[in-house]
Amino acid sequence: MFPRRLVRRLAREASYEGLARPRPNRALEDDAMNQTENPPRNRAPGALAGGVSSPVRAGMAVGGEPFVQACGRGAYAYDASGCRYVDYVMAYGPLLFGHAHPALTGGLDAIAARGTVFGSTHDDELRLAERIASHLPSMQRLRFVSTGTEAMMSAFRVARAFTGRSLILRFAGNYHGHFDAALLGAGASAQTRDRSRSGIPEGVAADTALARFNDLDDVDAALAGRERQIAAIAVEPIAANMGLVLPDAGFIEGLFERARRLGALVIFDEVITWLRLGLGGAQGPAAFEPDLTALGKVMGGGFPMAAFGGRSDVMAALAPQGASFTGGTFSGNPFGIALSHRVLDLIEADRELYDRLDQTARRLASGVRAILAARDLPFAVSQLASMVDFKFRSGPAARNYDEASAADARRFAAYYHAMRSRGVLLAPSQNELMFLSTEHGDREIDFTLEAIASSLGELRQQGVA
Ligand SMILES: Cc1ncc(COP(=O)(O)O)c(C=O)c1O
Repeated sequence: MFPRRLVRRLAREASYEGLARPRPNRALEDDAMNQTENPPRNRAPGALAGGVSSPVRAGMAVGGEPFVQACGRGAYAYDASGCRYVDYVMAYGPLLFGHAHPALTGGLDAIAARGTVFGSTHDDELRLAERIASHLPSMQRLRFVSTGTEAMMSAFRVARAFTGRSLILRFAGNYHGHFDAALLGAGASAQTRDRSRSGIPEGVAADTALARFNDLDDVDAALAGRERQIAAIAVEPIAANMGLVLPDAGFIEGLFERARRLGALVIFDEVITWLRLGLGGAQGPAAFEPDLTALGKVMGGGFPMAAFGGRSDVMAALAPQGASFTGGTFSGNPFGIALSHRVLDLIEADRELYDRLDQTARRLASGVRAILAARDLPFAVSQLASMVDFKFRSGPAARNYDEASAADARRFAAYYHAMRSRGVLLAPSQNELMFLSTEHGDREIDFTLEAIASSLGELRQQGVA
């Protein structure tokens, strides 16, 4: 037994109050949003490989140092010296309710006190599966995992086990996580161009067909001669890892038609879209019925939670019923499951939530359009729900990865730094977009629009835009 006093002290130190409240300093107390500057890093990366736990954070694409974050609160990220930034990274999507929302971070000690990981099945887990299935009827059976990568990796395996085929068709610029089969031609910040040194076995390429998003002819070309080998077509139905790319009318339908005709499955990667677009994700409004779906990000309320599932006959290919195995020490842990219930509680209780998010995002998007128009800059601005995207690329919004990749990376890098120096934090890569949260309001949008106008002015002065 630990001494009572030690237990009490540890509980006090680890409490929500102690951890989540940033240390008081002038930048936090001052209500006016001040100009900010991330201080130079005072520590070398040392034992942390590349100084980051996920490569995009290194900021290589914008040629700078990583942003070193001390904490986050609401719509704001704070750096080590307490300067704050309107945060559009939002942890790359999960933070629909902003940082440290009290309904998601309060009272966690009570949850933890019942045990944070069991290694057994439990009631809340069964209840969460049913709750998810009630919103996503295509997920007749599902299983919990901890990350989107695991969810998609497992979906690929089940699809292969069920069909007895190996080939998966994917789309360039989609990102499904960092497992081998997902990385060829992936979007986000996956760098796998030099395949011979990427650690991805050659054999994986033989089992992967890559096609252009929004291009059904290219799908047919990628499958030509291999039509009877295809296990599944995997797609982000709304592509959010090459900027924001919406599917053309008929594109997703065309994928279903081909999959049905060829005896293959359709896998929807809704790791970003579920709960960002609404309780029905991308499949709800169009009544799409993918055979398998992967979920993640928002569903954990800021904690690692993900799931995959689909048709009950397909999921029966999984052990213990079937021969295909997935597992996980932390899968379905009671802590993450409790957080997911809280996320659904918040969403189900607020019928106007998505309308409000949409209105805020529209305001940002139309403000950016007005700024660009006033400067004669012919760049498209895309917006869907609480996602906004604009890049330095002339012409209509990109429809695929080739077009998205044509955006001017040098201008984006200059813009990223100009925005950061004005107190707005963007993801340091052109393949990412701006994620808003319920904590982004008029004040943050106005501040952001001013920063954009002034950053573009600075870029023009420098001859960059
Ligand atoms: C659409 C999509 N699928 C899968 C993943 C992988 O999720 P995770 O990073 O939780 O492994 C991501 C991550 O960005 C994603 O955007």
